[in-house]
Amino acid sequence: MDTKEKYAKYVVTSHAPPMPPVEVSHAQGATITATDGTTYLDGFAGYSVVNAGHSNPDVIAAAKSAMDRHIHVGSYLYYAPAVGDLAEKLAEITPRRLEQSFFGNSGAEAVEGALRIAKTFTNRNEFIALQYSFHGRTLGTLSLGGNARRKRRAGPLVSGVAMAPAPYCYRCPLHLTYPSCNVACAAEVERVFDTQTSGNVAAMIAEPVMGEGGIIVPPPEYFPKVSRILRSNDALFIADEVQTSFGRTGTMFASEEIGVEPDILTMAKGIANGFPLSAFITRPEIGESFLPGDHFSTFGGNLVAAAAAIATVNYLERENLAQHARYIGQHVLDALARMQRDQSLIGDVRGKGLMIGIELVKDRETKSPAPDEAKQVQEECRKAGLLVGCGGFYGNVIRFQPPLVITMAQTDRALDILDSALSEVARPTAVLSAS
Ligand SMILES: Cc1ncc(COP(=O)(O)O)c(C=O)c1O
Repeated sequence: MDTKEKYAKYVVTSHAPPMPPVEVSHAQGATITATDGTTYLDGFAGYSVVNAGHSNPDVIAAAKSAMDRHIHVGSYLYYAPAVGDLAEKLAEITPRRLEQSFFGNSGAEAVEGALRIAKTFTNRNEFIALQYSFHGRTLGTLSLGGNARRKRRAGPLVSGVAMAPAPYCYRCPLHLTYPSCNVACAAEVERVFDTQTSGNVAAMIAEPVMGEGGIIVPPPEYFPKVSRILRSNDALFIADEVQTSFGRTGTMFASEEIGVEPDILTMAKGIANGFPLSAFITRPEIGESFLPGDHFSTFGGNLVAAAAAIATVNYLERENLAQHARYIGQHVLDALARMQRDQSLIGDVRGKGLMIGIELVKDRETKSPAPDEAKQVQEECRKAGLLVGCGGFYGNVIRFQPPLVITMAQTDRALDILDSALSEVARPTAVLSAS
């Protein structure tokens, strides 16, 4: 039985068959080598995780050294120096007043913890989230998500979640145009308080850049406006930075550039360059609202993952990878804007740092989403040696989120491949054969 057959027979996954069909042998820097010997440029970093590059030698050395001493003793049972060091480091690199971290294993677990502590601190129990958002697949996090397709057959979900319109300018839910809209979607949050809640809102949660929804970048006025509304309603703001942190958007944390300081910030993906670890960080007065026994995670703050996280952060800092992401990301956005002139499939190009989305449409006038074409572009890219993501609310967004160590030469190669793939899919015969 080959690996593909074993997946089909033994692995429970709603993602099968894996797209694209690559069987991985090993990965290095910004490349993945398949068992058939093909080396691909990695434009997706394992769901935007491996920010410091595949097989990063510093991260491997730190993890190996930790493993030589221990794997797990229980980071909430005993004092673990790596966990103390990591928590101190996170307090240093996150926005100003955020100081106390709780460690879990996955993004969803970090968000669950953030919800729990928001309830505990405020003594309230409702939340506001955004349409098109994504916060995870546990029952609580799924309930916050703004995509009904993800919730199918999962109900009943957790009650007490109200949905605000997404700051999705390309497809404005209020049918307005930025900037003449005066960021009306932010003002709508007040109406959500007034019409959809019982006045018991603990917090609003939002991604600084919406990842799974299709790399949606809110306008700069959005979070300051929302923050004023939250403050006037005594509600906290949770920034879900599971995807946007650790250099991905061109700063260590995307919150550095949204104009407000979150009360609670969640992080995962890039934190330990592939080792399973997550955290939320908050102000001491919020962190201290948990009483002993209120919250816990057996594997949370695993010693190998914590050591890997410290090495990851040190590497990102030493190599200035956030700045590199900003520089390369701008180069990509500029190139895509030029590409858009000739590539009629491209409806919108957007992103921050190396979190970039290319929204494909069948027709620029109607903006009719082109999910089949997006899948074809992804496959054409794979055939030419580039792995990219494909997602978004309508399944029509090509996601370029490579390891942040990607070089300019590799980036230009990726852009050439993408350009050719778009041309190939736009050819009338290509579309005909797919339909
Ligand atoms: C913003 C955001 N929050 C939470 C999650 C859930 O993370 P995990 O899959 O590690 O549970 C994701 C995953 O993509 C995410 O992008």
